[in-house]
Amino acid sequence: MTRVRVAVLVSGTGSILDAMLADEVPVALVLADRACRALEIATAAGVDTELVDRQDFGGYGQAFDRWGFTRRVAAVLGAHDIELVAMAGFGTVFAPPMFDAFPDRILNTHPALLPAFPGWHAVEDALAAGVAVTGCTVHLATVETDAGPVLAQEEVLVLAHDTVQTLHERIKHCERQLYPTVIKQYIKAQTDAAPTPS
Ligand code: GRF
Repeated sequence: MTRVRVAVLVSGTGSILDAMLADEVPVALVLADRACRALEIATAAGVDTELVDRQDFGGYGQAFDRWGFTRRVAAVLGAHDIELVAMAGFGTVFAPPMFDAFPDRILNTHPALLPAFPGWHAVEDALAAGVAVTGCTVHLATVETDAGPVLAQEEVLVLAHDTVQTLHERIKHCERQLYPTVIKQYIKAQTDAAPTPS
């Protein structure tokens, strides 16, 4: 497939990153906002890594410099000639400059059927609401969190004895299949739409 330079943004265990690498998404860079296992997965796979640590921008409280952090991430992605950004369990909400730097070039996977259950506690919220069906959503990330255009969704049944962990694991099983597929389709659609040089 076309070698578009994809950056994967991570904060956690990186099982979705792992699935992308196994599915030959052209991952050129893995960028994290904190030390995490996903960075170790990237290093083991021989992929370039960058850590833009939130602690260097005021950490996790009121003092967090979201704009400064965002500008730094956008600059690092630019320095690596990144063309497409895929958030995969990334724990920081960006300020507007990120979306100006990568218009229609930031994808996200979310563990619920958006617009239901946006936010960081989507699995807990779905369980607490007592829904029979939840799932995952791959969407374009826009300045309004978890509200960008939906590219694909897949349903997951909630089982009687589900905990947050068991339900999230079944959702992630879907995300590991759906997200790499949608990323590759998105790259192909963008490439096909690009004018051919004369
Ligand atoms: C996924 O469920 C993703 O949708 C959510 O965080 C999880 C990341 O899982 N935002 P992992 O770190 O790739 O295992």
